[in-house]
Amino acid sequence: MKRLSALIASTAVALAACAAPTTPAPSASQPTASPTQAPAASVAEPTKPPAAEPTTPPPTEVPAPKPEKLTVLCTPQEDWCQAMTKAFQDKFGIQTSYVRLSSGEALAKLRATKDNPEFSVWWGGPADTYIAAATEGLLEPYISPNAAQIPDAQKDPNGLWTGVYVGALGFCSNKNVLSQLGVEKPKSWEDLLNPKLKGQVAMAHPASSGTAYTAVWTQVARLGSVDAAFEYLNKLHQNILQYTKSGSAPGQMAGRGEVAVSVIFSHDCVKFADEGMDMLEVSFPEEGTGYEIGGVALIKGAPEPEAAKMWIDWVLTAEAQEIGPTVKSYQLPTNPNAKVSERSVKLSEVKLVDYNFTEAGKSRKEITKRFEDEITVAPK
Ligand code: G6P
Repeated sequence: MKRLSALIASTAVALAACAAPTTPAPSASQPTASPTQAPAASVAEPTKPPAAEPTTPPPTEVPAPKPEKLTVLCTPQEDWCQAMTKAFQDKFGIQTSYVRLSSGEALAKLRATKDNPEFSVWWGGPADTYIAAATEGLLEPYISPNAAQIPDAQKDPNGLWTGVYVGALGFCSNKNVLSQLGVEKPKSWEDLLNPKLKGQVAMAHPASSGTAYTAVWTQVARLGSVDAAFEYLNKLHQNILQYTKSGSAPGQMAGRGEVAVSVIFSHDCVKFADEGMDMLEVSFPEEGTGYEIGGVALIKGAPEPEAAKMWIDWVLTAEAQEIGPTVKSYQLPTNPNAKVSERSVKLSEVKLVDYNFTEAGKSRKEITKRFEDEITVAPK
């Protein structure tokens, strides 16, 4: 866990920052019903000239104080978390820090700090885990004005989470290791069961990783039942070298030649290849693959709710969603006005399973427990 303050001691920024959105105090020209103006007395009075109305000055609304700081629970890659929090801080002059936790770790943290939340907003990671958190009452609904730009299929109608990016699950393989093993680039989930790949496949653990949970639920979606999915996962287990904590770590294992194939989001494979692991190649299962909608949500009991809402408003803008490619994060933006990097894998190019995010989210606790009880301990 890394607490990185993206605080850049900049002076210009603090001066340029716009204050948190507050209702402008009524100007002298605006008619205001002063609360202190009581209605004229109705009791008959001896005729005398009406007393002059008391001239109470209009109430001067004290603008809400500008949010001072924001702590973000951040799930995507570290460099993206850093770039986003710095950009937000530079733009709004709010001291912004983050902690990077994988989806399952983030959920565990939200559960543990439910009565005294440490974070005000959660950004990134697949929506399944946001739905799991929402069903446990850990999130606060907030419908950002900018959510109107996000397609209905990529947000919760009640504002419990809103989509900020989309990405497809894929196979990320090391060409050298595959050729040494005499194995073709995998083109199906069945290809991962090849006995020549024993100890040569890596995936994260679905309890800690949203990436891995997407991979597990993809089996449910394509095979039609949890039991059929676990039958497949049991077979796959025979070829798994290790279940990592974070979802993208298996891609780096493949990049270092520690395994031949990793199951990660395809944009992470492109990122690692662009960062020098040029033996990596992406492929997709012909049976269909799963995909994620990265979420953002207000945390229940947030210590900095106004700053958190400013963050949510901002990350839904095209401007914010165009930051990813600057740090080689090629997830697809959810804001249709955001420019799409040519390095991003378009979902239209990939066969997707019918992935029910709500069902996946509500089943997360049960599925990850069954995985722990039945798969990770299974003999190889
Ligand atoms: C990587 C991907 C993100 C994804 C995240 C999930 O950072 O780039 O698109 O949302 O993993 O993290 P996790 O560790 O929970 O699998």
